[in-house]
Amino acid sequence: METLDLPILLTALVTLYYFFLLLHRKSKKLPPGPTSLPIIGNLHQLRDLPHRRLHCLAKSYGPIMFLRLGNKPTVVVSSPEAAELVLKTHDNVFLGRPKGLVTHLLTYGDRGMAFTEGGAYWRSMRKLCALQLLSPAKVESYGPARREELGRLVERVRAAAVAREVVDVSAEVGELMGNLSCRLILGRRSNSGNDELDLKPLIHEVLSLAGSFNLADYVPLLGPFDLQGLVRRAKVVHRAIDEVLEGVIREHEQDMTGKYKGDLLDTILSVMDHPMTNNSQDKPDMLDRTSVKAIVLDLISGSYESSSTVIDWTFSELMRSPRTRKRLQQELRTVVGMNRMVEESDLPKLSYLDMVIKETFRLYPPGPLLIPHEATEDIEINGYYIPKRTRIIVNAWALGRDIDAWANDVEEFKPERFANSSVDLKGQDFQLIPFGSGRRGCPGMNLALINTRLFLAQMLHCFDWELPEGTSPSDLDMTEEVGLSLSKAKHLFLMPTYRLLV
Ligand code: HEM
Repeated sequence: METLDLPILLTALVTLYYFFLLLHRKSKKLPPGPTSLPIIGNLHQLRDLPHRRLHCLAKSYGPIMFLRLGNKPTVVVSSPEAAELVLKTHDNVFLGRPKGLVTHLLTYGDRGMAFTEGGAYWRSMRKLCALQLLSPAKVESYGPARREELGRLVERVRAAAVAREVVDVSAEVGELMGNLSCRLILGRRSNSGNDELDLKPLIHEVLSLAGSFNLADYVPLLGPFDLQGLVRRAKVVHRAIDEVLEGVIREHEQDMTGKYKGDLLDTILSVMDHPMTNNSQDKPDMLDRTSVKAIVLDLISGSYESSSTVIDWTFSELMRSPRTRKRLQQELRTVVGMNRMVEESDLPKLSYLDMVIKETFRLYPPGPLLIPHEATEDIEINGYYIPKRTRIIVNAWALGRDIDAWANDVEEFKPERFANSSVDLKGQDFQLIPFGSGRRGCPGMNLALINTRLFLAQMLHCFDWELPEGTSPSDLDMTEEVGLSLSKAKHLFLMPTYRLLV
């Protein structure tokens, strides 16, 4: 009798325990949010341009909003105050990254930095970046490469100006920034050509895959079917990238001429096989060859398109606002003069240029939803319960349009709003965080800012720009396209006229 009663008693206790847990969980208040459908949750509400959709939803449900994407609990943050809570006040809890099938494949099993969880391995990578790869001294040491690449572009555009040809500005900017990234990181340019790397299509595919919405991450039942074909594509491009990276690493290892000295890969290889951490659970203690490839791929992906996207948007806004363009050129005329090109040392004196760039980042943050974070434990913020493993989306695009933080004219491109303001891009002012903020903030910010500032200053200083005949500023197509970054869907074509006296 007693032996029969025991299992029944145990079952009853377990059932009661789960019932209690369920009640307890129900009593905790999740943030408000729209009703979700079975299986897909709120996925159907995120089509096309998710940053815009989420901004609209937040107007109804508030700055801390709960969604269910498939079976994944998700919190969307849409005000500067809420972003500060997540990225600063409780940043130790929100350091995690949600796992994704495609990014896992692309990044050698999350062995890079951007998609790895916030443990000891990630901390060592961040330290390597801060102290060696992207330190201020290192960023400055790339000055000659920047000058050379920009010099080539000025020559090409000058030739187009003489021939009265239209220039595909978007393509030129993309080419230049891609080449610059590859030169700084791999010591090689990325153009197609005889002995040059043709990385462009591969990186483009990596960025497109990393930015795509893989249904299987949200509805795991669909995983084995790979309905969107993303896993298949990820495997193909991963193999191709691995081959290229292996080749470049071998070249670096075998080189006796010193021509790769100082590029990022050279610096990473110099610390390969040295202990990184003695506290890593599932990642190697040494920076091994696989980790080297993963981090190099992260750096190339982070830098390849992001700066060119910002420059493209800025150029387009300058064409829509001749007054702003004239004021910027006037500043360049005064600070630099018409007898020489812009030098990096001029940049700190170009305050209006700084305002123009901030205004572009406000309206067009290249990562409109940053990279998703993840709660590493249960937490309560602002009276709302956020369970462990909740995906956290910070809508940086919406923060730039927060009427309380800015003004009613948030949709207008108006650099002057920064004239008497201390608001900066560095991650301390939560209404403007295109590079994120805090410990997960972008480690490449200084490099990106110097590249962007120098490029824009040089192009606006050396040339006057006009729209091709028959087009007016109101014809400019400002449609957005979202991949891993928010880019302009249509290229910008302009006619240059050389304006320097030398
Ligand atoms: C305009 C240019 C750039 C923008 C707007 C940008 C923006 C961002 C953003 C929003 C994040 C995610 C922050 C978060 O999750 O909270 C990020 C992370 C990252 N960025 Fe950038 N980035 C730019 C350029 C660069 C460059 C030039 C590099 C490297 C050479 C780089 C490397 C990275 C890496 C490795 C991460 C991952 C950091 C981590 O997860 O710990 N980025 N970036």
